[in-house]
Amino acid sequence: MKLHDVMPRLGFGTYGRWNAEGIEAILCALEAGYRHLDTAQTYDTETEVGTALKQSGLARDEVFLTTKISTDNYGEGRLTPSLEESLVRLDVDQVDLTLLHWPSPNGTQPLAEYLEPLLEAQDSGLTRFVGVSNFTIALLDQARSIAGEGRIATNQVELNPFIQNKKLAKYCVDHGILVTCYQPIAHGRLGDDAVLVDMAERYNSSPEQLALAFELAKGYAAIPTSGKPERIVSNFSAQRLQLSPEDIALIETRDRNLRAIAPDWGPDWD
Ligand SMILES: NC(=O)c1ccc[n+]([C@@H]2O[C@H](COP(=O)([O-])OP(=O)(O)OC[C@H]3O[C@@H](n4cnc5c(N)ncnc54)[C@H](OP(=O)(O)O)[C@@H]3O)[C@@H](O)[C@H]2O)c1
Repeated sequence: MKLHDVMPRLGFGTYGRWNAEGIEAILCALEAGYRHLDTAQTYDTETEVGTALKQSGLARDEVFLTTKISTDNYGEGRLTPSLEESLVRLDVDQVDLTLLHWPSPNGTQPLAEYLEPLLEAQDSGLTRFVGVSNFTIALLDQARSIAGEGRIATNQVELNPFIQNKKLAKYCVDHGILVTCYQPIAHGRLGDDAVLVDMAERYNSSPEQLALAFELAKGYAAIPTSGKPERIVSNFSAQRLQLSPEDIALIETRDRNLRAIAPDWGPDWD
């Protein structure tokens, strides 16, 4: 089974979806039709995701769950217990996908030291698929050689019309690694771009819907979030938009290499 065959391409991000309001927003997403929820140990939303999933009445296997291992849990003997704690917070026996959230800060730890425990966690059934996030081409090369071909299922990276990450995305596509776009609607800033605003009018849509339709048309997954019901619903309905090849090409010209998330301890980007 490949991740490409089972992961719903449009997921709901849960950063910031905290407490009762957060549970409401996640429930709203599930009611709107999202069947993929993205959380992480550092977001502090695993409990909210688990609670909303239970309250929704949906069966466990109807919703694809992703979590991410915090770099704080890359030390010896820490990754598997931390994932077990995530499962307790999510109130599930297994997650569908577990990612290494970032490469080791400042590259201080060799990748094998924290990738191998993730592969072992997969072997022991704690997660169906494994992947990475914020990995560069050089790190993906290393990860593929440690894990073996086909095992690194996705790379979750910042990608939207303003930062299209073309070189990295091509590498992923060429090597069968699904690209998952985080910050896929550029945190609501796309309305700055007159070309996107004009195009959105032509499609009777919003720049955010265009961005999501663009990412899906490229074969990527995307995980937008919002705390507002109308936006949760309208972002989800982006799946219905069919962009013409000319408009996909026009969106490709809007790339500004405008990266919003670049901590100083992060990798040197491609
Ligand atoms: N792997 C990583 O390192 C990483 C890093 C960042 C994020 N992520 C994941 O990616 C998910 C999404 O990223 P993100 O939250 O940074 O950014 P995003 O989804 O691109 O943008 C969310 C922001 O846009 C606003 N928004 C939502 N829908 C909108 C619409 N239709 N029109 C205008 N504004 C809209 C939201 O405000 P309102 O709530 O007011 O609607 C919110 O402030 C996160 O929740 C998380 O799961 C992963």
